[in-house]
Amino acid sequence: QRHLISAADLTRDDAVLILDTAEEMARVADRPIKKLPTLRGRTVVNLFFEDSTRTRISFEAAEKRLSADVINFTAKGSSVSKGESLKDTAQTLEAMGVDAVVIRHGASGAPYRLATSGWIDAAVINAGDGTHQHPTQALLDAFTMRRRLVGRDAGLGQDLAGKRITLVGDILHSRVARSNVDLLHTLGAEVTLVAPPTLVPVGVESWPCEVSYDLDSTLSKSDAVMLLRVQRERMNAAFFPTEREYSRRYGLDGDRMAKMPEHAIVMHPGPMVRGMEITAEVADSERCTAIEQVANGVSIRMAVLYLLLGGNEPAVTHTRTEEK
Ligand code: CP
Repeated sequence: QRHLISAADLTRDDAVLILDTAEEMARVADRPIKKLPTLRGRTVVNLFFEDSTRTRISFEAAEKRLSADVINFTAKGSSVSKGESLKDTAQTLEAMGVDAVVIRHGASGAPYRLATSGWIDAAVINAGDGTHQHPTQALLDAFTMRRRLVGRDAGLGQDLAGKRITLVGDILHSRVARSNVDLLHTLGAEVTLVAPPTLVPVGVESWPCEVSYDLDSTLSKSDAVMLLRVQRERMNAAFFPTEREYSRRYGLDGDRMAKMPEHAIVMHPGPMVRGMEITAEVADSERCTAIEQVANGVSIRMAVLYLLLGGNEPAVTHTRTEEK
């Protein structure tokens, strides 16, 4: 059985294939009827033990666009609150005949455990585990960068070689940062992390990227600047940076955005905290791709589900008119 647990498991060719397949899927979204029969008769469970807006909804949209049967499970309101384990929850779902499990969990390693434990036969897709990985987020981010910085058609078959990407904020608690560093490195990009010293993880020296504590000096050298939320829910209250101090040193406002090259984009995986890491002016500007990233997430998740479950069926059958 094949799974998607970590962005670090993808080769350059795997990643480019997913990005190219997502472009095919995006063409379906441009059609009047957005649905494909590819996963008809297959069942996908969305198993969410942690809150989510974007990932949960976009996986569900992707599954429905591929005609899969969809079961949504959230820990709140389930028998998890009565003490049921991940193993028993997973085996209960397995008994209902699922083909894939999309899992978000607060514990780093939960999707890996599910995929390798032998508890279930289904394909496992990591939708974010603790501070560890969020591979479909990194893929949709890379898709957005390739479209904006290389081009929608020109990007097909291409990676992100030589692109300079800066990730700013709470690197310590960020599975988005870890996944992006892994995938962007695989795709040939040069990554710089910018964060307050207290929000840089121990051992970052071994990551394939640079680290800086000075946002202003990196802006003019960036093709994309990705802002990350300070994850207060994973911190002891004593370590909360104040909003004023954080935004003064690490927040992106209009003056700072003006220092970026004209072609450079501002990215955010969401949820955004306006006034902290990003001002409303920047969040609502043409250069901010946050909403585009959400739309691209559906295409990426369709591509991942198709490649894991779709077998040898062609992903998309284009009509002659569309091929012109
Ligand atoms: N980017 C992201 O994972 O958002 P959600 O937590 O809303 O899914």
